[in-house]
Amino acid sequence: MRRPIIAGNWKMNKTKVEARELASRLRRDLHDVFDRDIVLCPPFTVLFAVWSEIEGSQIEMGAQNMVWEGPGAYTGEICGEMIKETGCQYVILGHSERRQYFKETDAIINKKLLKAFFYRLNPIVCVGETLKERESGRETEVVSAQIEGCFAGLSEEAMVKTVVAYEPVWAIGTGRTATPEQANEMHEYIRTVIAKLFGKDCAEKVRIQYGGSVKPDNVDEIMAQPDIDGALVGGASLKPEPFARIVRFENI
Ligand code: 13P
Repeated sequence: MRRPIIAGNWKMNKTKVEARELASRLRRDLHDVFDRDIVLCPPFTVLFAVWSEIEGSQIEMGAQNMVWEGPGAYTGEICGEMIKETGCQYVILGHSERRQYFKETDAIINKKLLKAFFYRLNPIVCVGETLKERESGRETEVVSAQIEGCFAGLSEEAMVKTVVAYEPVWAIGTGRTATPEQANEMHEYIRTVIAKLFGKDCAEKVRIQYGGSVKPDNVDEIMAQPDIDGALVGGASLKPEPFARIVRFENI
């Protein structure tokens, strides 16, 4: 059985006051939820502030990015050691916005991933095709190349601790979700690619989240799919009510 994992990617949102308010509300509203992992991923500037609100609760925290190096001369960057110190257990790597706007490649994401393990951070690695790639029928080819590139040189033990987030780029922030069946089909495919690279046993254990316009009114259907183990939520994670409802998805 794979334990569900619901993560909120706050992206570039929230001042310190707003972040503390959201985190403390979620702590209160979700105090009785223990059968799934809950992860908040605020921007770097408020990681310590959010941790001070959730420390001691079952809610965990992740950063949205990190550099592939340790401490040193990398002006403007943040390394795993610093992220770990804030209280984070997770780090999101290779989000499509980073691939698109900051030119991150699978090779860069791979270096970051290996460094994340060095600092004992569990990576949430994002993969997914663009609309153009899907329309030309290349979505599986694109996603399998991302998986092979991002997870190169990883041990089976590390792969099991890695969370994969399938986020079709055309469904992010657009209100357009992949149908639950469409999403599940890709999740199933991702599992076969992982099985080919790391063995069937490993593939059965790896958690694969879906991301892209997950909302309170579609989460139950999405989470009902056999190969979907969680959600990576953007817009709907910025307010307590919708995010708490998403965390409390119901088994249908
Ligand atoms: P939305 O939920 O706003 O579509 O964003 C998804 C996402 O990119 C999460 O990482």
